[in-house]
Amino acid sequence: MAHGDVMEPPQQFLLPARPARSLDEYLATDWGGLGLARAAELGPEHTVDEIARAGLRGRGGAGFPTGRKWSGVRAQPGTDRYVVANAGEGEPGTFKDRAILRANPYQFIEGLMIAAATIDAAEAFVGFKASFTEEIECVTRAVQEMQDAGLCQGCQVTIVRGPEEYLLGEEKALLEVIEGKDPLPRVLPPFEHGLFATAPQLGWQATELEAGHAGLHESNPTLVNNVETLTNIAPILVRGADWFRSFGTAESPGNVVCTIVGDVQRPDVAEVELGTPLRTVIDAVGGGPLEGRTIKAVFSGVSNPVVVASDLDVSLSYEAFAAIGSGMGAAGFIAVDDTACMVDVARAFSRFLYVESCGQCPACKRGSGEITELLERIDGGRGTIRDVEAIGGWLRTVTDGNRCYLAVEEQAIVASILRAFPNEFEEHLDGAGCPRPRRFMLPKLVDLRDGRAVYDERQPFKRSDWTYGSRAEQ
Ligand SMILES: Cc1cc2nc3c(=O)[nH]c(=O)nc-3n(C[C@H](O)[C@H](O)[C@H](O)COP(=O)(O)O)c2cc1C
Ligand code: SF4
Repeated sequence: MAHGDVMEPPQQFLLPARPARSLDEYLATDWGGLGLARAAELGPEHTVDEIARAGLRGRGGAGFPTGRKWSGVRAQPGTDRYVVANAGEGEPGTFKDRAILRANPYQFIEGLMIAAATIDAAEAFVGFKASFTEEIECVTRAVQEMQDAGLCQGCQVTIVRGPEEYLLGEEKALLEVIEGKDPLPRVLPPFEHGLFATAPQLGWQATELEAGHAGLHESNPTLVNNVETLTNIAPILVRGADWFRSFGTAESPGNVVCTIVGDVQRPDVAEVELGTPLRTVIDAVGGGPLEGRTIKAVFSGVSNPVVVASDLDVSLSYEAFAAIGSGMGAAGFIAVDDTACMVDVARAFSRFLYVESCGQCPACKRGSGEITELLERIDGGRGTIRDVEAIGGWLRTVTDGNRCYLAVEEQAIVASILRAFPNEFEEHLDGAGCPRPRRFMLPKLVDLRDGRAVYDERQPFKRSDWTYGSRAEQ
């Protein structure tokens, strides 16, 4: 795994410059195996306190404070609790979890075991896409070696091979998949409606109690954390919250593993200190824009409003991205240069979200479908100003009754492109051709190594019922 030169060891503690190829190599690091020992010494309450004091925020996209999440799950009533590691990584432009799992699976599993012990979980699950074969192998081997060494005691780890859908990574859908169902987000969050819950949930029927189970019906509070979040745990416990806070900013402490793809010289994944300017990441990790081009927009996956060229000096932190009206997401950045057409970019993002929407909430599926069709019409030179206005109407209602955040993503990303690049929409209207005819390929990453990003070529052929057509239906 090649890394950029933004940070040099020993400041890297998530993505080692040299992958840990065996448990012995991991145990030779400053914290390998010692995180579990430290958690046992502290006990659950003080472990949560230390994580909270460190200010670690979830790296799955929302940046929710990890200590608060752990204490929330601990406070929920219930006898059976579960912990789930979200290794679904489906956000376009993001490859950091797979990079961590390839290079540092032991540290991730140690974090998962600490989480399990802290919330007193009966069992732990790691939810992957079935296609992540290399990462599944790395984690399976790590679990086996750690079990043999007595480091995974008292909690069974089950590896789940899920479907390819974007919603697999949505936490309420991931729990459904672990229970053997399709990735359709349930209503209540995991801490209220956990895995294998036997208590009735908002009109849903209770699951039967297992034979021999004599306890009460339970909601089984479940903790869901992202791979990178869990990989932070052992170093924090061994080195302490103050050490962790010596990196990053006051509101976003630590390092972050970021991905940079799209219109850059050399797509890559690298661990950088939070607070590093986005422009530095584009230049130092991604090698900067292509020869003779300039970056006109950056997207943090498909979940947040566009970052325009005048905001490229924004620092990588939750608060700085919020201040420019965007979000850092999972720190997977898609750079778009001046040769790209922003109508085409909006069309590609909207089509992805429409196709991936599960349709449980009519406004989400219908609205994202209508918006996509209108964008396709404008992109093809067949649109009028009425079509642009109609997009505005659908954007207002697409989130009505939304069960998950996907509908908000559609609203946020499309509205932001319309606001930031109105002239590019105007250029297409009333039969005018596109002045920038290069097609934008959605960077749904299948692989990223040695400066080469491989995108999922089947995605443009995916239909809204999750089957695949033989040609792009756009
Ligand atoms: C449509 C959608 C897709 C998501 N995909 C992922 C994903 O692939 N991996 C992930 O960790 N979180 C993903 N999330 C966020 C999770 O729902 C959840 O917030 C996260 O796993 C919590 O972990 P954290 O607190 O450690 O960040 C997704 C959310 C949405 C709405
Ligand atoms: S908001 Fe969209 S993706 Fe989410 S549950 Fe509803 S229909 Fe499915």
